[in-house]
Amino acid sequence: IIGTGSYVPERILTNRHLREMVDTSDKWIVERTGIRERRIASGEETNVTMGRIALERAIENSGIRCEEIEFLVVGTNTTEPVWPSASGHIANLLGLRKDLPFLDVQAGCTGFNFAFSVAEMFIKAGQYRTVAVIGTDKLSAITDYQDRNTCVLFGDGAGALILKQSMSEGIIRSHLGGNARSRNLLILSKKDGTGNAYIRMEGRKVYTFAKKAMVESCFRVLDPSGTADKKELRTLFEQVTKIIPHQANARIIMGAAEELESRLELPAGEAKNKMIVTIEQYGNNSCASIPLALDISLRTGKLRKGDLVIFVGFGAGLTYAANLVRI
Ligand code: UT7
Repeated sequence: IIGTGSYVPERILTNRHLREMVDTSDKWIVERTGIRERRIASGEETNVTMGRIALERAIENSGIRCEEIEFLVVGTNTTEPVWPSASGHIANLLGLRKDLPFLDVQAGCTGFNFAFSVAEMFIKAGQYRTVAVIGTDKLSAITDYQDRNTCVLFGDGAGALILKQSMSEGIIRSHLGGNARSRNLLILSKKDGTGNAYIRMEGRKVYTFAKKAMVESCFRVLDPSGTADKKELRTLFEQVTKIIPHQANARIIMGAAEELESRLELPAGEAKNKMIVTIEQYGNNSCASIPLALDISLRTGKLRKGDLVIFVGFGAGLTYAANLVRI
């Protein structure tokens, strides 16, 4: 990873604002999710405009020229209209190479992890040397602000990074997982009388899935063959500096950390202290959450070059995935 960038809209939607919109309270939201505020895109802002700024910042941060990018992969779920793809719009807006290949990856909130893995494969195969990856979503466009089960959770934003082929250790591997049989737990559904489709979620069931999927994916990315015993797995886990989880709910993140500690017989706090949590200010902004947290962590010194990091996500589909990276 030679550069990162991110963007969040200016408008802040606090728990107090939400209290005026649905039957909820700051206390309930903070205790159950860890969220205090989230960013909401303006009418003109889209996943494309946000993704464009994030990528521009990542290019600047990496010190490369736009023309050096050979391939663009965008994880997103909220392109409107659905085609042409967000990646094409962004490539055009930024004036990337005229013949640049680009594609969108739609995998719910796991879209960033899957997009990252697509980039990884092209780089490892030697097909491209410099690849841009973006995670961007405008969930506010598909959130029903009359549904307290969902509207307190979501926000908007974008994060991007530039990957460059290198002889030193970088992306070690990814683990991708899915559970298509449970796809109905998190869907878009038309609201009566409006014609608009909004997110509907069976929160409790997604919660249980998410916690389990995170633990499973962390183990599988460290031990792809599944042959390591507890002691070996613990040694592998101890080498990990930080984990950047998808920011869906602070309780899911901490619950997964406790599960990791119990399964690996680690001292209390050992996995919790590795978890990077930015949800308090941004809520769940889907594909943006991991690259945004990565950018913030690098800029604030929470992460340094050389750290061994796991990006772990889950989301609609249902899908889940992890990427093990020496940053
Ligand atoms: O990006 C990936 C997708 N999404 C997720 O990862 C979300 C996964 N799920 C969750 O994070 C949690 O399930 C929620 C935060 C959505 C809900 O928390 P919970 O602890 O699972 O609560 P619950 O759904 O079991 O509901 C408990 C109570 C219910 O009331 P009753 O039936 O006990 O009277 C809900 O109606 O809380 C009520 N409730 C609320 N109360 C105040 C639900 N939403 C709210 C709200 N404010 N916003």
